[in-house]
Amino acid sequence: MLLCATLFIATTTMAQPNPITPAPLLFEWEEGELDIDKGLKLYIEENDEFTAEDYLRLEAAASQVGVAVKRVYKEPKSRYLRLRFGYGNFGEEGYAMTIDRSGVTITATYGAGLYYGLQTLRQIVEQYDPLPCCHIEDKPSFAYRGVLIDISRHFRSKEFLMRQIDMMARLKMNRLHLHLTDAAGWRIEIDAYPELTSFAAWRKPATWKEWWYGERGYVTEGTEGAYGGYLTKEDARELVAYAADRYITIIPEIEMPGHSDEVIATYPHLACTNKNPRQGDLCIGKEATFEMMQTILSEIIEIFPSEYIHIGGDEAGKGDWAQCDDCKRRMAEEGLAGVDELQSYMIHRIEMWLNERGRQIIGWDEILQGGLAPNATVMSWRGEEGGLAAAAAGHDVVMSPHGYCYIDAPQDAPYSQPESIGGYLPLERVYSYNPTPDTMPSDVALRVLGVQANLWAEFIVTDEHYEHMLWPRAIAIAEIGWSQRDVMHYSEFRERAIRIVDAMIEEGYSPFDLKNEIGNRPESKADVEHLARGKRVEYLMPSSYQYAPKYAAAGDATLTDGKRGTWTYADGRWQGFLGRGGVDVIIDLEEVTAIHSIAADFMQICGPGVFMPCLVEIAISEDGKNYTKIADIEHEVVVDELPSFKSFGWEGEAQARYIRYKAHRSRYSGFLFTDEIVVR
Ligand code: ACM
Ligand code: ZN
Repeated sequence: MLLCATLFIATTTMAQPNPITPAPLLFEWEEGELDIDKGLKLYIEENDEFTAEDYLRLEAAASQVGVAVKRVYKEPKSRYLRLRFGYGNFGEEGYAMTIDRSGVTITATYGAGLYYGLQTLRQIVEQYDPLPCCHIEDKPSFAYRGVLIDISRHFRSKEFLMRQIDMMARLKMNRLHLHLTDAAGWRIEIDAYPELTSFAAWRKPATWKEWWYGERGYVTEGTEGAYGGYLTKEDARELVAYAADRYITIIPEIEMPGHSDEVIATYPHLACTNKNPRQGDLCIGKEATFEMMQTILSEIIEIFPSEYIHIGGDEAGKGDWAQCDDCKRRMAEEGLAGVDELQSYMIHRIEMWLNERGRQIIGWDEILQGGLAPNATVMSWRGEEGGLAAAAAGHDVVMSPHGYCYIDAPQDAPYSQPESIGGYLPLERVYSYNPTPDTMPSDVALRVLGVQANLWAEFIVTDEHYEHMLWPRAIAIAEIGWSQRDVMHYSEFRERAIRIVDAMIEEGYSPFDLKNEIGNRPESKADVEHLARGKRVEYLMPSSYQYAPKYAAAGDATLTDGKRGTWTYADGRWQGFLGRGGVDVIIDLEEVTAIHSIAADFMQICGPGVFMPCLVEIAISEDGKNYTKIADIEHEVVVDELPSFKSFGWEGEAQARYIRYKAHRSRYSGFLFTDEIVVR
């Protein structure tokens, strides 16, 4: 009996999960405790390679671990917090940390490692008093662990950005990609072009939505009711230094040639048409475009020491280029085969210009179109294909695929979340992303620098909402970027993330409160057994109006395959119908059967144009020729900001072999989406 109890205790101690996020490479619990009531003596071992700045950074980080820390200059024998630098082979950012009864020792090869060791210590102090003796060895899986913050759609202040930088650093993230320019507003002061911030940074409507669906105009700074803002150069330099003190590099993004509506509105001669066409492509034929972009970039590289400068490159419309005399002349002179190569010409030329100044370009995966610039790094967002192609061709890539890393989608049941771009991207799905799965060839995997969460702000007006979207999903990105796969377990991670979220709320952040997560649509969690499962469905609409190829789900089997949809229509379970004929199908139960209910769910999410039906008719038949209508369900379709789900069905007693289910589209011409016609 006694033996069993002892064994039990020993086992549970050993199985105690790692308390640190991102999960370290090795965490060993040891016997004993370190009392921290009287504080710790900070001893930073002298090292010639340390700059005064390094000492200051580390002292500042040590002062934030949550223990009273006093710097001493003679090596203490007890109650020490000892930082040792220049040892071992921990890589750029790795470290080892030992807590024993007399103190804490952090050893690293470089300063960043000591900084990250201190972040680990901070998390231990947050959770334990006294500190448990332990030994940790740790280093990141990926060199690039990033977040994109979009301050164009809705401007965010320097102070807001600093708060996010604080949190990123605590999670050992090291890149902040600032989306500084886009149609909705230019956000960085440029001396040579003051109108970019005195005009292109301001608009009348406060919300992106009103602005985008309205006039899309700009106003002069100081106009009554003007909404917007920008970072002054001084703000930006302060941010760069603040981030650098936390071992974070800020990567500025200056969009070109697309997403430049605000530039064209201010300087219409940069458009092919010489006027503001409410579209955002710069003319690549004109030298003026290069003069302006290079002047802007020369000021950008003065502010931002980042090796990488992000030049955008995504989603150019390219429509005007083919018609434009300047662009046509450029294509002829340069021997460019079309608009893709014209875009590539611009990116290549900007790359050469930046390379000559010691910088590298990174761009969205569309920069592959027409040929990738020779030294470019690709940020893969439309999926992983762009990243894989670029890596296979010997380019570095950062993975940020839409299906895992676009944290502008709601993270919980959409009806419980603020209005957003749509979809469903819960923490667990983000966490499941592996930037370098075993199936990836090793030479390709070596090119994957890391991973980034992108938080676009079209629907995010307030700081609180922004933090709600960012956290905790960025914590999952931090762990994907840092931790080895074999120490990553979602259920343990979720517990740690809940602790971090609770602590953030205490500190005044506004993360999504993970412990109250509703989770996926209950219907989707298990297959549903019903009388029509596996039975044949005949689609009565003309073939061109059947389900849309992009939303075919499991094809003709979808509506009776027993698989119910999740919260998003893009999950391969919901079937989407775009035709005027709506949904009109017959299910053959194969024999006359007693039935009690027939029902199908529809979803509505107005942003992307998905609406409820306005009428559902249900009819049954024993012979497949003579049908009796048993239900006529009318529904008033009302445009709403939040997604909704609704069942349209019949209950009663009937005998039937054939069921005809017909859902009519409302006056809103968009999609109908349904997942299963359940017959009981
Ligand atoms: C992007 O989401 N257009 C990069
Ligand atoms: Zn042009």
